[in-house]
Amino acid sequence: MSAPREHFSSKLGFILAAAGSAVGIGNIVGFPVNAAKNGGGAFLLMYAIFVFAICLPVMMAEMAIGRKTAKNPVGAYGALAGENSRWRLAGLVSILTPFMIAVFYTVLTIWILIYLVMTLTGNLDYLASTEGFSSIINDPLYLFGAMAGVGGLVAFILKAGVKDGIERAAKVMMPGLFVMLILLVIFVLTLDNAMAGLKFYIIPDIDKITPSVISGALAQAFFSLSLGMGILITYGSYISRETNIPNSAKLVAITDTAVAFIAGLMILPAIFSFNPEVNPDDLSSSSVSMIFVFLPKIFLALQLTVGYFLASAIAAVFFLLVFFAAITSLVSIMEVPVAYLIDEKKQTRKKALSNMFIWGGILAALSTLSFGLVSFLTELTTYGGATKSLFDVIYDMFYDTILPLNGLLICLFVSYRWKKHNLNAELSEGNPGFANTLMAKYVDISLGTFIPVVLVVILVNTVAKIYFGYSMFG
Ligand code: PHE
Repeated sequence: MSAPREHFSSKLGFILAAAGSAVGIGNIVGFPVNAAKNGGGAFLLMYAIFVFAICLPVMMAEMAIGRKTAKNPVGAYGALAGENSRWRLAGLVSILTPFMIAVFYTVLTIWILIYLVMTLTGNLDYLASTEGFSSIINDPLYLFGAMAGVGGLVAFILKAGVKDGIERAAKVMMPGLFVMLILLVIFVLTLDNAMAGLKFYIIPDIDKITPSVISGALAQAFFSLSLGMGILITYGSYISRETNIPNSAKLVAITDTAVAFIAGLMILPAIFSFNPEVNPDDLSSSSVSMIFVFLPKIFLALQLTVGYFLASAIAAVFFLLVFFAAITSLVSIMEVPVAYLIDEKKQTRKKALSNMFIWGGILAALSTLSFGLVSFLTELTTYGGATKSLFDVIYDMFYDTILPLNGLLICLFVSYRWKKHNLNAELSEGNPGFANTLMAKYVDISLGTFIPVVLVVILVNTVAKIYFGYSMFG
């Protein structure tokens, strides 16, 4: 006999945990930089449209599937489509995806922790120097030390389970994150010249919106809301039947977008007013690591105004904030394969965790070595006209390609297999008036039609561009 399924203790606990998953490096670092490069306010507007018109219905569908079945993604697809259905394959992909995304996300979290420690020990200037980043990310001592720290913390949280681990971590870290973010924004906005950056951020530059920017915005929105990874199916399996799914999903989407927007209010003025020689085009989207090179420079530039000590203190607060955000996200990704092993393979939580951490640890270690330390991993393969490292391959495949694919599968599954009236019935539990809302009508119409079409077009464009170096829309 297995133990009864654990649940979040309250609706707020669930919302905080889901928001904790959604708010991460993607919001605080990825979004502001993307917005800066891709037309400021115009990107913001497009992103917001994607979040509410495309992602929100997918998010509700994931939560509903999870609660209906009270299972991990493989079990959930099996329960709704039949144990021998091919849809179980879609469930398996939703286990593999978070596992692989966890691998590359772990690498980023490791860097953030190293940055935090370096900043706290007075080494912000070294971090911002030309050799700083590359020597740090290629120093095995730092890498493996930080990896042990990140892995240990995530394992500690997950071992305590859904309520005492995931929910409690989110309840501590999320409010902390908000307070730090708001303080930082207030600080940055009161400095001289901040308004120049603010204008750049808010005022739309429509010319910059190209098809590749549009697909970038969609991938960013999917990733940022933690969709297509089975996370919200898994978290949905831990909520009560009284939980109001449509409202929870809206709150999570609003929180996530608000944090991304507010992070932009801090980063953009910092980049453009304190460091006018930074060219936004240098913040290349093709390389995540470039962003990490710029971050310490932004903070170091503050020393002209506030001195080295305060600049370091601000940087430390920022890295701590990102670290919190990253940990609650990592926890949510790792919980998916863990829930799968517990449900389907009947492993104990402890056993499932150690299995995941061994395999995830090996892959994450290999990825951290693919930034120069081991040349075979650094130059693993070539496609789309570029040499790719192991990290790049995982990123291209899972972040850019499989994430929207999983979203597409969810839409098709709900619309044509599980059927929308079942979705509607599930969404109405905990929200009895839902069926008569505009949202219900929108979900009903769009989930099987317009949303999958948009996803297919963007997916095809992404595949052509990444793997074949071919740009479909010029
Ligand atoms: N949504 C998180 C972010 O924006 C990232 C994340 C990815 C979280 C995958 C969970 C799973 O950074």
